[in-house]
Amino acid sequence: MHLRLADMELDLESDRGVFGSKGVDLGTLVLLREAPAAPATGDLLDLGCGYGPIAITLARRAPGARVWAVDVNERAVELARANAASAGTSNVTAGTPEQIPAELQFDAIYSNPPVRVGKAPLHRLLLEWLPRLTPGGAAYLVVQRNLGADSLASWMRGQGWSVARLKSKKGYRVFKVKVTEPTAGS
Ligand SMILES: C[S@@+](CC[C@H](N)C(=O)[O-])C[C@H]1O[C@@H](n2cnc3c(N)ncnc32)[C@H](O)[C@@H]1O
Repeated sequence: MHLRLADMELDLESDRGVFGSKGVDLGTLVLLREAPAAPATGDLLDLGCGYGPIAITLARRAPGARVWAVDVNERAVELARANAASAGTSNVTAGTPEQIPAELQFDAIYSNPPVRVGKAPLHRLLLEWLPRLTPGGAAYLVVQRNLGADSLASWMRGQGWSVARLKSKKGYRVFKVKVTEPTAGS
């Protein structure tokens, strides 16, 4: 499939049984077009990477960063690895959750999270990974408005996280989430 952004075009392979196999997801496009640029260095995470469109875009945009791409679907991980190799992004490491070093912290997380798994598993996933942001780090999440974006934002605020709605476009919200209390000026 073909991913077209203002700053790059990528041809990526997907497969049946992997999210987005019929074309690049609209939410993914909204995130890649609207979210702020990733830090140029450090460790970045694509949470729920699928065949890798977010991770590979981040890796192209931030060649000095290490990009981690995680998914529970092993076929998705295989595709993300193959797509990263054919895109020439050697700074992407894809794996299942247990393959990502447990001590790693992330300077930024970008995710089109799996909202269709249901609230409890989605909340568990966010509770597992978002606290692994570095103190100055932020997560950028895209969520479809009709699939509970605003109630997810309320739940995240209920965790004491700071949540800003950066964009609302084409039925999707892009949220910036920080797990620590914001300091003046941040
Ligand atoms: C909405 S899809 C986004 C896929 C890809 N990032 C994209 O933009 O096309 C969410 C992904 O999260 C993955 N996922 C579901 N539960 C997960 C979990 N507990 N840990 C990691 N990934 C998970 C799914 O397999 C799916 O690939």
